Amino acid sequence: MKISIRGKISLAFMIFISLSALIWARSYYSQYILNQKIQIIERKYDLFNAILEARRYEKNYFLSFDRKNIAEALNYVRQAEDILRNILKEYGKYTLAKNLDQSITELVTYKESLTNLLNFQEEGHLMVPPNIIELIRKQGRILTNKLEKIVKKESDFTRDLIGKSQTIHLLALIPVFILSVLVALFLVFSVNRPLKTIENAITKIASGDFENIPEIKTGDEFESLAYSLNNMIDELSKRNKQLVQAQKLASLGKLTSGVAHELNNPLNNISTSIQILIEEIEEDGLEYKKELLVGAEKEVERGKEIVRSLLEFARERTLTLKQVYFLDLINRAIKHVKPEIPDNIRLKVEVPDNIQATIGLRIRSVIINLITNAVHAMKDGGEITIRAYNELDKDGFSFQVIDTGEGIPEKIISKVFDPFFTTKEVGKGSGMGLSIVYGIMEQHGGSISVSSEVGNGATFTCFLPFHQPDQRDL
Ligand SMILES: Nc1ncnc2c1ncn2[C@@H]1O[C@H](COP(=O)(O)OP(=O)(O)O)[C@@H](O)[C@H]1O
Ligand SMILES: [Mg+2]
Repeated sequence: MKISIRGKISLAFMIFISLSALIWARSYYSQYILNQKIQIIERKYDLFNAILEARRYEKNYFLSFDRKNIAEALNYVRQAEDILRNILKEYGKYTLAKNLDQSITELVTYKESLTNLLNFQEEGHLMVPPNIIELIRKQGRILTNKLEKIVKKESDFTRDLIGKSQTIHLLALIPVFILSVLVALFLVFSVNRPLKTIENAITKIASGDFENIPEIKTGDEFESLAYSLNNMIDELSKRNKQLVQAQKLASLGKLTSGVAHELNNPLNNISTSIQILIEEIEEDGLEYKKELLVGAEKEVERGKEIVRSLLEFARERTLTLKQVYFLDLINRAIKHVKPEIPDNIRLKVEVPDNIQATIGLRIRSVIINLITNAVHAMKDGGEITIRAYNELDKDGFSFQVIDTGEGIPEKIISKVFDPFFTTKEVGKGSGMGLSIVYGIMEQHGGSISVSSEVGNGATFTCFLPFHQPDQRDL
């Protein structure tokens, strides 16, 4: 039979509550009995004390033969009788009553003997016969002994009862303990495990791995949850594929329109120059014609530059890997860009000499591009810092190119990696640099990000794994 988690938890709670109620009732009952017993013991002590008093006066009488003593003794005996009857009436059920019944007979006999003695005295007899004295003494002794025993028995019984009730309490806690352990085990196996499975699957989804949750066959809410989650994962995976496709098409569209636009300008200029040349070929003005040709040549150069960066962007995608010290690679890149760095820009290199990685040499282009952009952003001079550090927990290292230039406005920071995005004037930047950089980092299984504040420079942070799992194709 399959029970839902709610059912299982309710059942456990019901058992808990019933057990607690039982223990509570049991404890209330023993408390009640103990209370009764303590009251009985107190009353029995009163009884015992009354008899002791009666016997004290009895003894006094036999020493002085003063009648007042007998009257006193009788008084105490009557008191004792009252107490005894009272105990039987009030606590009959809870006291060891059999002995008390017998004591009543003995008490009554003792009372009768004392009454007889008093009558005998009132009749004017002066001497009491020794057999009567002996009888009364004997009856008194038996009564005291008996009552002493009864009180002791009642105390022993009560002490015993306290011990027993403690044991019962301890024993009653055992099922509660066992039940607690069972509930804890149930929570671990029925709740914690499936939750862990689901949590793992969701973490995977968050990292882009749309793998289905392993089947959960518990027959409860978790099974249906896993089922719904799997449906959701399938749907997400489908949507994700569609999204990637849409993004691909969008960037292809952007690229095509960018290329068309960029190439159109130089082609137009060339075309105009050639048309003028054709029309005026017969006429004079050699200087002017030369100027037109030089202009056309410049535009051809611009067209070639655009095509060159397009080719770099789309270049063969297989990586040629080499094990290098990262510091060496940095130094070579710096050597390459040094001539373009003006004197008012300082270059600081904070790269440890022990970072070694198996990477493609295109990483050099990444650094050259980042340094060139930094130089362009610091028209009035400043400082470029190149920093690198190990990220051993990620099995790779990071490097940063930090400048103190104009910074990137928040509005455009998300676009800087787009192909053909540039803020530079026509002919200065093609807008392809960072998109090429982005592609190279991706190809290496790494990543690049940028943070910047206008007026406070920009920081480009790149991560690279130490090893490439295999040759990647994009
Ligand atoms: N270090 C930097 N500081 C400020 N802006 C930058 C920096 N690097 C890049 N950018 C911005 O990103 C844009 C795109 O850069 P990039 O792709 O290299 O193209 P390009 O350098 O040809 O403009 C630049 O035009 C510039 O606006
Ligand atoms: Mg650039």
